[in-house]
Amino acid sequence: MSLHRSGLLIVFEGTDGTGKSTQLQLLAQTLQEKGLPVVITREPTDGTYGKQIRELYANRDAVSREEELNLFLADRREHVDQLLLPALQSGKIILCDRYYLSTVAYQGAAGLDPAHILARNDFAPVPDLALLFHAPIQTGLNRITQGRGEELNDFEKEDYLRQVAAVFSQMDLPCIQRIDAARSIEAIRCDILERVQPFLEKLQ
Ligand code: TMP
Repeated sequence: MSLHRSGLLIVFEGTDGTGKSTQLQLLAQTLQEKGLPVVITREPTDGTYGKQIRELYANRDAVSREEELNLFLADRREHVDQLLLPALQSGKIILCDRYYLSTVAYQGAAGLDPAHILARNDFAPVPDLALLFHAPIQTGLNRITQGRGEELNDFEKEDYLRQVAAVFSQMDLPCIQRIDAARSIEAIRCDILERVQPFLEKLQ
């Protein structure tokens, strides 16, 4: 979807445990230090549908794959209407942890057609920049279980994540820039800043 907008939509995408959320916070901090108007958000959101989605983490088979897709889309519609569009129109720089490329990859890997999923997202503003993080699946899983001390949920099973990564790797959209997430936090932080810089220049 295109619209007159004066802000920026930067989304952080990739398989679990690739360091997206850490890098999102670091970028937010840098932009805020420059005095820029940053909005941090994520999907699934903390709204009604987002909460229903989080309940699925423990028991994904409670709904069909189509119903699961519909929940992610309903959550996104609410997010677009209530936060993303107003923030874009008022010139904010939105940093969003996951967006519709996650739906294409995760629900695509669950058996739905990726092209069909993308088409069903035509109501959602196209990101200016989608930073697509990739690292070996095992690295990501180790970060979740050892680094964060968490158990893997139903969306984080190894074979499934390999399929998710395969869908991500086949994506070819103009907004995507791939980030090698198997490097140090600092190296990735600098890389991201360089990629974001041209978008900031266009804003001014
Ligand atoms: P996270 O909050 O740790 O990023 O977890 C969100 C999980 O939800 C993650 O495993 C990916 C999954 N997900 C989808 O399956 N489809 C989607 O559209 C989105 C946004 C997330």
